[in-house]
Amino acid sequence: MAYEAFARKYRPKTFDEVIGQEAVVRTLKNAIDMERITHAYIFSGSRGLGKTTISRILTKSLNCQRGISSSPCGECENCIEIDRGSFPDMYEIDAASNRGIDDIRALRDNVSYAPIKGRYKVYIIDEAHMLTREAFNALLKTLEEPPPNNIFILATTELHRIPDTIRSRCQTFTFKPPTVSQIKDYLKRILETEKIEYEEDALYILAEASEGGIRDSASLLDQAVTLGKGHVTVKTVEELLGFIPETEINNFLSKLKEKNIKEMILITERLESEGYDLNVFWKQINDILHKELIDISIKESGKFFSKKDIEDLIYIQNIFLKAYTEAKSFQNPKHIYQLTILKLNYIKNLVSLKEIYEKGIKVSKHTVETPKDEAKVEKKDNELDLQSVILKIGKEAGAVVTAVLKKASIKMEESQIIITVEENLKDTLSEKKDIIEKHFKKPVKIEGKTVKTTKKKSQKRDEAVDKVLELFKGKIITYTEE
Ligand SMILES: Nc1ncnc2c1ncn2[C@@H]1O[C@H](COP(=O)(O)OP(=O)(O)O)[C@@H](O)[C@H]1O
Ligand SMILES: [Mg+2]
Ligand SMILES: [Zn+2]
Repeated sequence: MAYEAFARKYRPKTFDEVIGQEAVVRTLKNAIDMERITHAYIFSGSRGLGKTTISRILTKSLNCQRGISSSPCGECENCIEIDRGSFPDMYEIDAASNRGIDDIRALRDNVSYAPIKGRYKVYIIDEAHMLTREAFNALLKTLEEPPPNNIFILATTELHRIPDTIRSRCQTFTFKPPTVSQIKDYLKRILETEKIEYEEDALYILAEASEGGIRDSASLLDQAVTLGKGHVTVKTVEELLGFIPETEINNFLSKLKEKNIKEMILITERLESEGYDLNVFWKQINDILHKELIDISIKESGKFFSKKDIEDLIYIQNIFLKAYTEAKSFQNPKHIYQLTILKLNYIKNLVSLKEIYEKGIKVSKHTVETPKDEAKVEKKDNELDLQSVILKIGKEAGAVVTAVLKKASIKMEESQIIITVEENLKDTLSEKKDIIEKHFKKPVKIEGKTVKTTKKKSQKRDEAVDKVLELFKGKIITYTEE
């Protein structure tokens, strides 16, 4: 048996099966039942919303052998022929290919004949806006002197291209895109009738991707069933839509968590060279980050991040979302995404608000006298490695140690590592010295520096504090000093 596409097979045959379009359906049903049928309609709306479908149901309602009814029987010869598209009193005219005056003249001649089999002749003029000016004028004449028992339905995706003279003689119905959940239910009904296994989430993804088009959603479903060999899973649907595999997404997120800039850049390079659409990738990442933020707010922690990351996460999501909007209208999205990743480098000093308050803003980078110059150069070279070592240490030794290390001056020598921190923080590190040594794979010397609190220096605010203030649009109200 020939395979029949879902969109065709599941074209609604009654008003009650139509999804969405409540206002259109209700008005038409009332008009039919009260036998107050207008002779000319405009069905306006984007493709795949049911304009043709509803035109046919209306045709059946008027021509069912069991009588005019908003619920035609669907079984009589007329109903069956209308469903098949072979009813002699239903004319489906494609205005895109029959746009001229001659086509409309032929239609006008036809109008004067009585219906062959039914009560009404119905002319469904698809893509009506494509008619030429002459054709519209000829049509207008017919609409002005409506011959009895003829109904005209002008279907169009571009209402503004239908002349006002025509519009004023028709009753216009605007077809609206159905909601994601309506589409989801429609797909679900198809799969349950077909007895095809599916994952609920997969249907949700399909419904979202079809952007309001029911026909598109059904076609996507066809493809998903074929691709998944009869199982509609999230995995096959994502593959179908060109989603980036979950392992890649997870990998990127874990690098993001480590702020491993280099690896994140490499991932974007690789995905692009493998032919993935980076905009799709970025959207997936943003969706997850958003979900993480919500989960952290509600349940304290998400799948990748936890409460302590929330400030970083708000900042990251902020710049990531901006990048997405920008990149979509930019020729080379990769550049924008990579630039955005590089920006993350500048939030690595962002310590948590809680930490700052616990320490009373006393701990300021600028008050530590560090052996600046050499250390800085070396630090730059080893920046990426250093960051990841610090993070590893932090995982074992705790967030406080991470914060202290981030503020410390770390000098990497051949035979040892010298970490210089403020005297009062020295013990914090010394306690975890063995963990620190394990990760640096070298002996570690922890040195304390006395804090010289000259008024001027201590009043210089910490960069991290500035960042937090910027983020929360805050002000420092009290500023404690040791
Ligand atoms: N409102 C709807 N309810 C249910 N199915 C629909 C609806 N709109 C469209 N479809 C599906 O999409 C297919 C195409 O619909 P159609 O009526 O030809 O759209 P249009 O004429 O607006 O482009 C139909 O066969 C049907 O399966
Ligand atoms: Mg159509
Ligand atoms: Zn019937």
